[in-house]
Amino acid sequence: MTSFSLLPLGLVLHISGIVVMVGSLFAGYLTNLQLWKCLPYDRDRALTIVRATAPLRMAGGVGGIVIVAGGILMMTAVHGAFMHQVWFKVKMGILAVLIVNMIVLERPAGRRLRRMLYDGQAPVDHMAMSATRARIRFFYLLQLGLFLLIFVVSAYKFN
Ligand code: HEM
Repeated sequence: MTSFSLLPLGLVLHISGIVVMVGSLFAGYLTNLQLWKCLPYDRDRALTIVRATAPLRMAGGVGGIVIVAGGILMMTAVHGAFMHQVWFKVKMGILAVLIVNMIVLERPAGRRLRRMLYDGQAPVDHMAMSATRARIRFFYLLQLGLFLLIFVVSAYKFN
């Protein structure tokens, strides 16, 4: 396959991955809003929402892999020409923040949320609940903001 046809193929993969990953993130944000509306009063309903939307995490992961595969393909097509450009370095920096946000904010807060949901016997701790709610909300908003920033940097390719 020539570099000429590798570039559009990479771009198709890149855009498909972005649609799946950002779509899953946005859907997660919206269902998270619904979840916190019922969590303090109706744990069963909250559990149903969490179970029904669990595949979104998997879809987001698959989207991420497809984005990277498409990116590498495009980079191969242009023989790494973008590697030393400022916009690309900035984009990789934002990508790193995106991953750190998942590890530092989302993982522990998600674990705490699941403990609240599955520990049916424990009394409702409103303080812990609102702290977890704020963290998860901040995670989603930061993540969506970072994606928007990557779109701007990638589209304008500032140098
Ligand atoms: C969350 C991660 C990422 C997002 C949201 C993202 C988004 C985008 C967007 C919106 C474009 C503009 C497409 C266009 O100009 O038509 C683009 C271009 C590009 N991306 Fe990404 N990207 C991501 C990660 C990566 C990674 C990891 C790589 C490389 C390994 C990469 C390599 C490229 C390249 C080479 C282009 C330039 C294509 C061209 O103009 O010919 N991207 N990206």
